[in-house]
Formats: sequence, structure tokens, C-alpha cells
Amino acid sequence: MSPEREKCFWYRGLPVPAETHSLDSLRFAEDFSFRDEDVLAVTYPKSGTIWMQEILPLVLNGGDLTPVQTIPNWDRVPWLEEKRLALVLDQLTSPRALVTHFPFDLMPPSFHTSKAKVIYVMRNPKDVLVSSYFFHQMATFLDDPGTFDEFMDKFLEGRVLFGKWTDHVKSWMKAELGDRILYMTYEDMVEDLPGSLRTISHFLGKNLSDQVIDKIAETCSFKTMKDNKMSNFSLVPKMYMDSDKSPFLRKGIVGDWKNHLNPDQLARFCSVIRKELEGQSMSLPWSL
Ligand code: A3P
Repeated sequence: MSPEREKCFWYRGLPVPAETHSLDSLRFAEDFSFRDEDVLAVTYPKSGTIWMQEILPLVLNGGDLTPVQTIPNWDRVPWLEEKRLALVLDQLTSPRALVTHFPFDLMPPSFHTSKAKVIYVMRNPKDVLVSSYFFHQMATFLDDPGTFDEFMDKFLEGRVLFGKWTDHVKSWMKAELGDRILYMTYEDMVEDLPGSLRTISHFLGKNLSDQVIDKIAETCSFKTMKDNKMSNFSLVPKMYMDSDKSPFLRKGIVGDWKNHLNPDQLARFCSVIRKELEGQSMSLPWSL
């Protein structure tokens, strides 16, 4: 990574990291041919993306641990918009599982005409903010976040990866994909992982026994993922991700925001988010 290169560039109004994305990779994503049997997990960054990269292969393969134990998460369930996709696409077996941070309006035409299924995972934005702040400290291919206060301003203004949280959530909440989309929350997954896995399995047409569900829940628990080198980013050189500054799998809890936002910051944060969601018919599972 050359030090003078800009760490992020803007694509269709959204900041994206140059280390992992290029104009070619983004165009590749916009021209991507979805198949009916594809499964796509969609998240705003720091909402549970790598968790879904663990869960989807396990559910789709009936609890077979081989993919999560032998293939790094970014290759087993690649990002639609990242450079890696073109390199590994041919190796993906059907049904293909992918993830994306794209807002709904950037989805390629083939997505709209296909029957590909979508699992949209959202997380309380206060915890997204905190997780993102620590991620920016460890991911040296991103700009230094500065102080928490400075980073919060950037987050609220959408000068962070993939823009504003509110825009992302609004775009997918009004997607009108009928039974092609399943909405999940990070909080529900933390509270009841086996139950969430049953919901996901059912949505994907997989009838898994309690025994298999328990095995999957154990494999994609925070602790097991933290110890799995195919999932914890320890294979990434320290010059790109420095887990001494903050591990990627950092805390994996609900409500860490209480340890980081002071009353003024909390009021400012909630007032901006509330205002931007005003007039939306969607109901969110957290109070803001
Ligand atoms: P924290 O920083 O709050 O710990 P993403 O994959 O979208 O970048 O999201 C990363 C966040 O999801 C991190 O949150 C990470 O710890 C959390 N996460 C990943 N796997 C998890 C799991 N199995 N259980 C709970 N949280 C998990």
C-alpha cells in the first residue's frame, strides 16, 4: 500500500476503501449475473457481515464444517463489490453465497430479475458506530478515526464506508422484495443464535435437525470464530489489520455503546438519526 495513495475513493456518492475495491470491481458488481439460487447477505458495515459469512456455508451445507475450517471468510462468501470476487467466482459452488454492503439502489439489474434470496442484517446504530470506530483503528487501510467525537461526526455525515447508516437501512427496508428477503437483527442473533439459525434455515429451505443447529451455533459462536484463523482475519498481514490495536472480533455484545457515548454525544447521535428516519413507515427494533 503506497503511503501517498488516498485510502478511500467515492463511488456513486459513497466512500469505499481503495485497498479492497477498485472501479473495475465495482463495475463488475454492477454487471454481476445473479442466479435464482444465489443467497446474498446484506449489511451496513459492522452489523454482522462476517457472522453471516460463517453461518451461510454452514446452513447451506447442512452443518459440514469443511468450508469454514479451510477457506478464509472473504473467499468462501465473497463480497459482491470487492476485488476478490473476480478471482474466486469460478470456485463457488451452487447455491452461491455472497455478501454485500451495497445499498439497494446499487444492486445490478440481474438481481432484480432473479429470485436470489436476501438476508438483511441490521444492528443498533449506536453499536455500529462504536464497532466502526475500533475497526478504523485496527484497519490501517482506512483513515485514522481521530477522536470518538470526530469519528461520530463523520459517521453521522456519511463520510464513512458506504455512507450513512440511515440511507442504507431505509433503502433496504423499502425494497419490497416480498418473500425473497428476510430481515434479521444482530441483537436477535446474539440473544438466540439457535433460534436465528432455525429462521435462516427455514428461509433457505433447509430442514436441519436440532443436533445440526446446535453444531452450527457452536461453530459460529463468537468464541469459536475468534479462534478460527479462517474467520478472525489473523491471516491478513499486520500492515493492513493490526489486531493489537483492536481485534476484528472485538466484543460481540449488544449495548457496548453505553461504555463509549457520553450523554451529550448520545443526545446528538439519536437526534440526527431520529430526524433522518422521520416519516418512514418502517419500525426499528431499538429505541433511539
Ligand atoms: P464488535 O466490534 O462490536 O465486537 P462486520 O462483520 O459487519 O464487520 O461486523 C463486525 C462486528 O460483528 C464486530 O462487533 C464483531 O465482533 C461482531 N461479530 C462477528 N461475529 C460475531 C459472533 N459470532 N457473535 C457476535 N458478534 C459477532
